[in-house]
Formats: sequence, C-alpha cells, structure tokens
Amino acid sequence: MKRYLVSFAGIVGAIIVILALVVATGVYNVAADDAHTAVVYNLIETARDRSIAVRAANVAVPELSDPQRIRRGAGNYNSMCAGCHLKPGGGKTEISRGLYPIPPELARVTNIDPARTFWVIKHGIKSTGMPAWSKSMEDPYIWDMVAFLKRLPAMSADEYAAEVRASGGHSHGGGETMSENRESAGHSHNDEESAEGEHSHNDNSHSHDDSDEGEPASHEHVPPTTPAGTDQNLANTAGDAVATVKAFHAAMSSGNAAQVVAMLDPKVLIMESGNVERSRQEYASHHLPADMKFMRAIRYRLQRQTGDAVGDLAWVASEASLAGELSGEPMDVVSTESLVLKKTARGWKIVHIHWSSRDATKA
Ligand code: HEC
Repeated sequence: MKRYLVSFAGIVGAIIVILALVVATGVYNVAADDAHTAVVYNLIETARDRSIAVRAANVAVPELSDPQRIRRGAGNYNSMCAGCHLKPGGGKTEISRGLYPIPPELARVTNIDPARTFWVIKHGIKSTGMPAWSKSMEDPYIWDMVAFLKRLPAMSADEYAAEVRASGGHSHGGGETMSENRESAGHSHNDEESAEGEHSHNDNSHSHDDSDEGEPASHEHVPPTTPAGTDQNLANTAGDAVATVKAFHAAMSSGNAAQVVAMLDPKVLIMESGNVERSRQEYASHHLPADMKFMRAIRYRLQRQTGDAVGDLAWVASEASLAGELSGEPMDVVSTESLVLKKTARGWKIVHIHWSSRDATKA
C-alpha cells in the first residue's frame, strides 16, 4: 500500500513539474488565432459546462413567452450582442471573426436552456470575450434577452429587423435608456461592410447607441398629442412637394419599389437613427425591401405635418403613428420623418431623408 502511495505521489509530482515547465517555457500558445489542442479544449469546455450547470441550478425561470418581452430583448440584442453573436441575414463581423473561443451564432442555437443562458449573460465567461452584463443590465432585461434568444432561431432576417425596429431600441439598466428603433435593420449590412474595411459605419452605429444613454432628455422632446393634419402654411408654399411626400408614403405602404425609387434623387442621403445610406441604389438594395415590408404590415396614420419651400428646395416634416401587427404581434410606434426635396425638370425629388421612431407604448 505504501509503495502505491509513493508511486502515486511520484506521478502527481511529475505532472506538476511538466505543467510548471509548460508554463515557464511559454511553449503553450495563448494566441486567439491559434486553436487549443483537443485535450485542453475538452478540459476547458467540461470545466466551463460544469461550472455553469452547478451555478445555474438555482435560477428560477420566469414566464418568457410575452411578445413585449421578446421585442425588448430584440432591441438590446441588436445593440449589445449582434456584433459578436451575429444576426439573421447578417454576415460575420470583425469582432466575431477574431474571437476565440468563437462566439456561438445564437440564431442557430435552438436548444436554449433558459436558466443556463440567464446565468451566462449575467455573469459572463472568464477569458472568452463573453462579458458579464450584470454590470449594465438588471435581471428583468436579461430575462427579456433570454426570451428573445428562445425565439431568435425561428426568425427570418426581415422579422428580426422588424422586431428590433419596433423594440424601442437599446434599453436596459433602469429602462430609462431608449434609442430610436429604425436603426436596427441596417446593422447587418454595416457589419458586412465594415468587415470589408469601412470602419466608420460600424463605429457610427455603436456610438449612436451609446450617445443615446448620455441624453435621455431627448426622449421627452416628442410632442404630446397634437392636432392632426397638414400645416396650412406648408400647403400654400410647398403644395407640390407635399403631394410628392404623400405619394412617397403611399408607394412605401403599397410596396411599389419602382415608384419609391422614382421619387428619390440618385444621390439621396438617407439617415435612419445613426445609419446612413448614401445613394438611391444603396437604399434600394439594402433597407428598402425591409422598410416596405414593415410599412405594408402596419397602418400609417399621419399625425402632423409641417415644412416650407424656398425656390427649388422644400422640407417636409411628418409625425405619424404606425400601428398594426407584424409577424403576429402587436406593434405601436411613433415615427418622425424629415424630408428635403428638390424641384427638378421631372418634378420634386427627395434628396434627404431622416427617420427615427420610438415605441408608442412608452413615454
Ligand atoms: C465581445 C463579444 C461578445 C459579446 C458582445 C457578447 N458575447 Fe456572448 N459570448 C461570447 C463568446 C466568445 C462566447 C463563447 C464562450 C465560450 O465558448 O466559452 C459567448 C457565449 C455566449 C452564450 C452561450 C453560453 C453557453 O450556454 O455556452 C450566450 C447565450 C451568450 N454568449 C449570450 C450573449 C448575449 C445575450 C449578449 C449580449 C447581451 C452577448 N452574449 C454578448 C462573446 C460575446
């Protein structure tokens, strides 16, 4: 017996010496672009899974099927997670390409375990790039995210974009931070482009989300219910331009892409809550299909319109309520839109659009 103990101690000692040598010589490569050996990978994976399982065992799972909850999760996922975990219809991002372990593409993970997922989102995973979101998100918001992740694999790119758009954007912490929601549809394109070297897009959209946190007051600027209709001055000074705007909304709602495109100047600059599209062609091939699908699904009700025209330039600002059902779920959004139009030989053309929106059910 004693002999066995001695040789056992010897083996353990040898292992410790080998491990110490591996550490001291720096022979093990910690580079993120070099995969673990199979042994190390399995060891880490098992340790991680057991560690999470033990800690998630006591997590009580709340009701997760509430569509509002799923929608709020969508907005936050798009601003905080999609850069690493990707989104339906979007390609890989610069960050996701470089991380090791590779972040799972959550739109493909169909066996979400709610307690485990909650625990991981809340506490993060050491040395992996997966952050602990408890520092910035309270539990109910993390549960929104879990509810959303359960639904995500069943969502098409369009449904995803529509949910994000209707979500009220980026909201967490006390729920006080809300960004406009239209931005979301475009992130997939931005991310793809940035991977090709256009860094500004990606950076812009992020700084937008963040800067919103710095100015919560901006959400209080939305006017209370105002008398409906078009401002009389506008009808007098910019009657034709207003007719073009009306036709533009009608073409969007009826899904007539050719008509929409015909009203846009080739160099139209379109800003959607921090995202920018710089030509008619870019818009037609990126956001337009999703925007039209969205407009077709909801009822557009103009609340208030104002603007003016000077010479060949006009501006028309519209506040509208967008309500209806998208993918079987109720949606109620306040949309604000500013259009700049230019008179050409072929009528008024839209040269600039600025869109933003917010969840109408929130103050
Ligand atoms: C900076 C990149 C990054 C961001 C941002 C990020 N994650 Fe992760 N996440 C990772 C990585 C890397 C892993 C894989 C960790 C591993 O394999 O051990 C991971 C793993 C996960 C997992 C799988 C856990 C499991 O069951 O094994 C979930 C779920 C997850 N993240 C959710 C989220 C959510 C929700 C957000 C946004 C609130 C988010 N992540 C933001 C990098 C990120």
